[in-house]
Amino acid sequence: MPVAAPSTPPEWAAYYHLRYTVLRQPWGQPEGTERADDDEAPTTTHAFLLDPDGQALGVGRLHPSGPGQGQVRFMAVSPNAQGQGIGRQVLEYLEAAARQQQLSEIVLHAREQAVPFYERLGYAVVAPSHTLFGSVPHFLMSKAL
Ligand SMILES: CC(C)(COP(=O)(O)OP(=O)(O)OC[C@H]1O[C@@H](n2cnc3c(N)ncnc32)[C@H](O)[C@@H]1OP(=O)(O)O)[C@@H](O)C(=O)NCCC(=O)NCCS
Repeated sequence: MPVAAPSTPPEWAAYYHLRYTVLRQPWGQPEGTERADDDEAPTTTHAFLLDPDGQALGVGRLHPSGPGQGQVRFMAVSPNAQGQGIGRQVLEYLEAAARQQQLSEIVLHAREQAVPFYERLGYAVVAPSHTLFGSVPHFLMSKAL
């Protein structure tokens, strides 16, 4: 299956569920905390990859964050599918969407453990940023498109 936006209610449910199980549940955060106010904004681009059995493998999103700039958030790959190129497919889909929107830069706040993944995809660390849930250091990264 190609990367695409979720399009049916079950796909949207699977999209948010993967975001929750990878990015919130391990830190004891309640369901609902995986949602952002601008998830339903028409300017937010969602990327979703399913396997042939209908299992969610990877998710991510892009929103406009400044003049010529987009921000990627909520990148997550199912634990048993990590390291197989799925994160790359999701991020490249969002980068293609950003280029179509005439954006010239993508920024993101990467978890420390994900910094090498983003570096491999051409992003560079700009500065340390916030610490999530008191224990997950993040780094501001950027890439010129
Ligand atoms: C970070 C994450 C999205 C990456 O997705 P993934 O599917 O595992 O990564 P990919 O297999 O697409 O990796 C793409 C490239 O980055 C490299 N890479 C990925 N993680 C790496 C690491 N920790 N160190 C070095 N290289 C790494 C891969 O080797 C691959 O390189 P290649 O294309 O030359 O073979 C995924 O592992 C994940 O969901 N992690 C947990 C949640 C998280 O941290 N999300 C990001 C929040 S900011």
